[in-house]
Amino acid sequence: MVSKDQILAELKSINYPGFKKDIISFGLVKDVLIDGGAVQLILDIRTQDQKVIQQIIDSVKLAVQAIDGVNSVETKLGAAAAQPAPTQDSAYLPGVKYKIAVASGKGGVGKSTVAVNLAVALAKQGHKVGLLDADIYGPSIPLMLGVSTRPDFDGQKLKPIDRYGVKLMSLGFLLTDESPVIWRGPLVMRAIQQLMKDVDWGDVDIMLFDMPPGTGDAQLTLSQSVSLDGAVIVSTPQDVALLDAVKGVQMFQKVNVPILGIVENMSYFLCPHCNERTDIFDSGGVKRECDRLGVPLLGEIPLDTEIRAGGDSGTPVVQKNPENPQSLSFMHIAKRITANLFRTGE
Ligand SMILES: Nc1ncnc2c1ncn2[C@@H]1O[C@H](COP(=O)(O)OP(=O)(O)O)[C@@H](O)[C@H]1O
Ligand SMILES: [Mg+2]
Repeated sequence: MVSKDQILAELKSINYPGFKKDIISFGLVKDVLIDGGAVQLILDIRTQDQKVIQQIIDSVKLAVQAIDGVNSVETKLGAAAAQPAPTQDSAYLPGVKYKIAVASGKGGVGKSTVAVNLAVALAKQGHKVGLLDADIYGPSIPLMLGVSTRPDFDGQKLKPIDRYGVKLMSLGFLLTDESPVIWRGPLVMRAIQQLMKDVDWGDVDIMLFDMPPGTGDAQLTLSQSVSLDGAVIVSTPQDVALLDAVKGVQMFQKVNVPILGIVENMSYFLCPHCNERTDIFDSGGVKRECDRLGVPLLGEIPLDTEIRAGGDSGTPVVQKNPENPQSLSFMHIAKRITANLFRTGE
């Protein structure tokens, strides 16, 4: 006689399409009902992507059918999955037109730096911009935008903080003390969903999500909860970073999020004294990888003291010195992103 544990153990070997994490850990399997050799599985799959749903169902059936003693497998989508609409965009971010993830495979490659400068650049170009800092490992956006106050709460919703024309909300605001938080799947999911639905975002043209590095819980939560209009991947030119960036690209492609392109950060060093360019890391790697993957190279940002200082001082370089070449690179990338969005979105 087949047992529930046996089935759960088998299902634990199935990863969510595009992710390294298994479907049990994500809470997709709500119930297992066994009647002799007949097994019924109740699944809660919160995506509107039929391909992903079918892929999960197929893998689940295949895995369970292979267990000794199982004659038939039936899958049922649970209550939440049956009515996906309220849990999708409309409930979370009703006033947001375009949602863009800023992601990287690795930490420390300048993802948050790129996210804040792009956000300010987009605001300067006349768009209503939101920036949601969902980096569970180190929510750094408040520091980078020089925000030390906490958002107001009107008893119902948190008010995003307005800075340099960007509406900001950060996971950092929700953490009450310095103690480390152990981020397990369900906790990540709740926190990120809270940043969307318990915040009065109002009307936003473009919302950037500063994601934690990697392809984990936060990415899955986001792609299950809202339909992303695109992902911007940030990488440095070193092979290790690039390898992880490629994984990031592939993950978003698997969940059908268009890749808007890769930003090569810390691309080269421009000497402030003699203006000589030095390729500190192997140069050209990101471009080659972009060509291979068929995604655009959105731009190259140099390793630059002003960029770092901008992050540390709370005034991003695009705000502090909009005319310098680094700021113009960010402005240019922002333009490319909107050109792509508005072309495909209309
Ligand atoms: N192009 C750049 N030039 C100089 N320093 C940079 C650049 N990009 C990022 N940094 C610095 O590198 C560190 C890590 O950047 P950060 O944006 O926090 O990375 P991530 O979000 O990917 O972890 C920060 O101190 C930041 O100021
Ligand atoms: Mg960061």
